[in-house]
Amino acid sequence: MRFAARRRACWIVLVASWSVLLPAAAHARPAPPSDAIASAHPLATSAGKEVLAAGGNAFDAAVAVSAALAVVEPYASGLGGGAFWLLHVARSDRDVFVDAREVAPGAATRDMYLDAAGRPVPGLTMDGPLAAGIPGEPAGLAHLARKYGRLPLSRSLAPAIRLAAEGVPVHARWQLGLRFRQGTAQKSPGFREIFYPGGELPAAGARIRQPDLAQTLRRLAEDGADGFYKGPTAELLVAGVRAAGGIWTAEDLARYRVIEREPVRGQYRGITIVTAPLPSAGGIGLVNMMNILGGFDLAAMDAGTRKHVMIESMRRAYRDRTQYLGDPDFTSAPVEQLLHPFYAAGQRASIRLDRATPSAVLPTAPGDDSEGNQTTHFSVLDRQGNRVAGTLSINTFFGAAFVPPGTGVVLNNEMDDFTIRPGTPNDFELLSADVNSIAPGKRMLSSMTPTFLESGRGVAIVGTPGASRIITMVLLAAVEWLNGADAQAMVALKRYHHQFLPDVVSYEEGAFTPEEKAALESRGHKLQASTRSFGNMNVVTWDFATGKVEAATDPRGKVEGEVY
Ligand code: DON
Repeated sequence: MRFAARRRACWIVLVASWSVLLPAAAHARPAPPSDAIASAHPLATSAGKEVLAAGGNAFDAAVAVSAALAVVEPYASGLGGGAFWLLHVARSDRDVFVDAREVAPGAATRDMYLDAAGRPVPGLTMDGPLAAGIPGEPAGLAHLARKYGRLPLSRSLAPAIRLAAEGVPVHARWQLGLRFRQGTAQKSPGFREIFYPGGELPAAGARIRQPDLAQTLRRLAEDGADGFYKGPTAELLVAGVRAAGGIWTAEDLARYRVIEREPVRGQYRGITIVTAPLPSAGGIGLVNMMNILGGFDLAAMDAGTRKHVMIESMRRAYRDRTQYLGDPDFTSAPVEQLLHPFYAAGQRASIRLDRATPSAVLPTAPGDDSEGNQTTHFSVLDRQGNRVAGTLSINTFFGAAFVPPGTGVVLNNEMDDFTIRPGTPNDFELLSADVNSIAPGKRMLSSMTPTFLESGRGVAIVGTPGASRIITMVLLAAVEWLNGADAQAMVALKRYHHQFLPDVVSYEEGAFTPEEKAALESRGHKLQASTRSFGNMNVVTWDFATGKVEAATDPRGKVEGEVY
């Protein structure tokens, strides 16, 4: 740390003298003086660092970090899941969103999780291979390396292969996930054998080796996407899934494609927001909330009124989410309208400063979707100014808690992000709509919101896990950044959230002062202290004026987080 501080100080001196030499270059945006990575695990950060040191760029580092996270956080993301990577390519000054979200298998049907009476069958979208969409992350890694990287995929995957082969120590969060999944694990020998050695919950610090995963990664490294979606890995995946009652086919895997999409863009008081498009609801929600807020003078408000207005913007953006949003290749969402400032003006006009709007009085719409407890986000900046905001997921802790034998791949349970039955509360007592219902090859709606914030001040690379709360966490961080917060303050910020239904404001202890609580309650908000902390945000910022590059990991991630 002291070294990092000294190094930063050196750079500040260096950049200060540089800006004296080049006073007119203020708008030319010099390259960052250092690179930076913030991820949820020190070994993943080191993997990225190793690849940068080997001559890789931010995109190679993103491949290395993503793959290493699959090994060191097998409960949060991995080859059995999906990913969104938001890229900024410095050379062409272009932003691109790489969508490697899972898709529903070809044999999936709209009502596949309902019983004969039309009721959702408990657990079916959560546990075992029927809960798993066709993974996108492996194809995404190959795509990133081939199209944007400087190094071969085999070089960028080398750290992850080594970690999987040599083993990594179990940490507290990992143990928590294993305890949570102990019951379901009994049904998957492939999962049990890797993660419960000798049938026991491993002690903290115990080293877990994942040789099958190392082999799966090697095939990916050698043959690119075909090394996963065709040949021996694909055969093992399909055989394992089908033997346990799943519906994947070889064609489902062979057919999987990454999609490059235009990011969603917005403006908020001098900040440009570049963020996730559909099939994430995140960017549309984020920009809509910021459009609503942009018409208020937040700085002139007392804190209670300011937080009331923030909550009202959340309520309105989340109301629209489930009514309108789904995979854009299957449904047509009124994206332009939702992002339009006039639309936000209408929403703003319905906000009273003295009173909460009960969600029930807004034009009826079904509620939010169901999302669980794990996922991961990392941010990378390299010295050329390339950036990556990557949010990766297998959905809840250890996904479906199912590993097809011989693959080492933990399958996602992302099918739970689809609407299981329109208008019916799911496991989390949340509602959702038909636009996001299941169809073969369709991507399930997500909340993951990898985001760039850009202004004359600099850039911030932002994102977090946290299911439906992701979008409001990114909103709070963006507003704080506008107010001058640095990366550390953004990740440490106490958070609050409203998602239309249920009509409550959930918050972390410390998010509101007693006066703010009183101000919100007097307006009719129902406040609910959360027993869980919100998210695990990883942020990299680059300040143009000082040249300072800062990487910060969320204190909620505790020992796992590290920056360099
Ligand atoms: O794609 C989504 O929105 C969810 N599958 C993300 C789940 C998540 O963030 C769980 N978080 N802690």
